[in-house]
Amino acid sequence: MNPPRKNRREFLATVGALGGASILMASTGARPGHAAEAAEKLAVDGGTPVRTDALHAQPYGPQFYDDVEKQELLDVLASKSPFRWRGDDSKALQFEKAYATHLGVKHAIGVTSGTTALFAAMAALEVGPGDEVILPAWTWYADYDSIVLSGALPVFAEIDESLAIDPGDIEHRITPRTKAIVPSNLQGGVADMDPILKIARKHKLRVLEDFSQCVGGRYKGKFLGSIGDIGINSFQLGKTITSGEGGAVVSNDPTLFERAVRFHDVGVIRSPYAEEFKGGVMAAFAACNYRMSEFTGAVLKGQVQKLDTICSRLRANAKKVREGIADLPGLKMRKTPDQEGDLGVTVFLDHGDRERRDKFLRALRAEGIGASGPGGSVILPIDERIEKKSTVHPDWPSFNTPQGKAIRYGAECCPRTIDIIDRMGGVIMDPNFTEDDLKDIVKAIRKVYLAMHKA
Ligand SMILES: Cc1ncc(COP(=O)(O)O)c(C=O)c1O
Repeated sequence: MNPPRKNRREFLATVGALGGASILMASTGARPGHAAEAAEKLAVDGGTPVRTDALHAQPYGPQFYDDVEKQELLDVLASKSPFRWRGDDSKALQFEKAYATHLGVKHAIGVTSGTTALFAAMAALEVGPGDEVILPAWTWYADYDSIVLSGALPVFAEIDESLAIDPGDIEHRITPRTKAIVPSNLQGGVADMDPILKIARKHKLRVLEDFSQCVGGRYKGKFLGSIGDIGINSFQLGKTITSGEGGAVVSNDPTLFERAVRFHDVGVIRSPYAEEFKGGVMAAFAACNYRMSEFTGAVLKGQVQKLDTICSRLRANAKKVREGIADLPGLKMRKTPDQEGDLGVTVFLDHGDRERRDKFLRALRAEGIGASGPGGSVILPIDERIEKKSTVHPDWPSFNTPQGKAIRYGAECCPRTIDIIDRMGGVIMDPNFTEDDLKDIVKAIRKVYLAMHKA
């Protein structure tokens, strides 16, 4: 069995070599020029590397910190009032309004992390003991943990070659107890929302979009988070924009939003949301404190202004690399249901199996290009604590129903996910890669790929 992957996203990028990449859009088979490129001795075999200074992507958001975030933070210090419920001057509130406008949703609330955003969203959807929630076998722990900590039962579905949940593997997992589906949009890729929504509507299920790893991503013109019933994301360091830690819940549904707001703040709804929601439609209930601080709100108010720039640069850079390698014979790229909406975080190839993938990545790194397989997520069903259904209390409701007792996790429940994660690998992009960096990436991918695919 393959070892469990626990790696967080490794901000690796690549360097390659092919100057002046050719712009052929489809794989057309070997061309005469390919033989010359394939004849170059690989650095891993003692040849000259494309680059000597290894190229690595860096966390995106902090590269764009400037006087905007600085001034917002100074304002909070000067106010001597870093608690968010301080009227219209609140940085957290101003960030929420700007973020909701940007994403095209009616409501957004800032919280302390993506994980707590998930807890609030599960509460909003009234997920609880006896319910089942379908999630992809490849995603971050928090998607699973928020289901378990709500008392519900996580049910895994396979991913497809987009690295998101396979819409074709959902419907047969639905039971009368299923409450929601959690499509997670991973490493800048988008889940295929239309078929997921169709299944959800047919079975009267809720859709919770986790777009933590794809903030700014779009599906058929709509921003992720604005498509399902409710959306969440993280602003942790590895995300498109960041305040180090932080998260948000977004929704167009005022009742779901009110419940999320109450859950994140001791069950109440305070000004100015109390006025906006005319006191609300529900009574208070047992809840948490996941409130965003004014310092976090200040940084995010600045960062949201940079979101478009970061996304468009990432997309443009990934496009140039894709175009530069498009003529490689037999090339199989990571699948996407919407290339325009994809964030361009990865340029991943499907190498067919793990051995070839690892060989490719080793050779690419030797050329001076940071290269990696899928990261930032975990094949959850093969993680030890999940396989064992470990909880903080032996009588935890999730695993004490007949279904909870019967369910089996482990490798048997996600063989396709394991296979796909093993096959994929390539380069993580950076919004600030230069034209020369991009040429190096293209050159290195071509050199290694053609050497490995020599007739
Ligand atoms: C897909 C996904 N969901 C949720 C989270 C949780 O976010 P946080 O780390 O802010 O709690 C992450 C964090 O990496 C994530 O990648």
